[in-house]
Amino acid sequence: MAQARPTRRRLRDPIHEHRSFHRTESKIAVAGHPIHAMLVAFPIALCVSTLGADALYWWTGDPFWPRAALWAAGVGFVMGILAGIAGTAELLLVPGIRIRAASWTHFILAVMLLSVLGANWGMRIGDPAGAVLPWGFLASLLAAGMTAMTGWHGGKLVFDYGLGTQNDHDDPARGDRN
Ligand code: HEM
Repeated sequence: MAQARPTRRRLRDPIHEHRSFHRTESKIAVAGHPIHAMLVAFPIALCVSTLGADALYWWTGDPFWPRAALWAAGVGFVMGILAGIAGTAELLLVPGIRIRAASWTHFILAVMLLSVLGANWGMRIGDPAGAVLPWGFLASLLAAGMTAMTGWHGGKLVFDYGLGTQNDHDDPARGDRN
């Protein structure tokens, strides 16, 4: 006697099926270009510059480099906070960003990074040269690694999930943009 074949159930992802899932267009933007994406270049570049300045002080002993590192760390931290404010507003206001777990992973990575950037600046304020070796240099190394992870993950949000992008970019009715 032929045996009845078990019926196969399709697994459903309630997040994917949610009506907000595809509402990912940036709200904190200038002419559709997300402000967060414009700002993140500054903390990324200045964090790497701080590490570079620390390494050059270690190598040359020139007192110019600890002052350069102090400014790079400070401005990088402040610009990181501004980028974080724009990113957090985006996270809370855009339903298709808010609903994805990956957005919250990026938020947690970013907040940890901002704490390290703040500490790396704060520890230098009283004595920029004395703070470099070893703790300033180690903090810069940690910050650069965390920046790489956070930045790479932010890129995933945009290029893999399309967050912050317009989903009607092929619509000829938009006409005004090419
Ligand atoms: C503190 C809270 C943060 C939140 C909630 C947040 C959220 C987001 C969101 C929603 C996106 C998708 C694009 C958009 O809608 O703008 C994004 C992209 C990105 N984020 Fe963040 N972010 C935060 C902080 C940071 C920081 C501190 C960095 C610095 C490393 C960073 C690096 C990036 C990068 C590189 C992208 C891709 C930008 C692109 O290529 O267009 N984020 N972030």
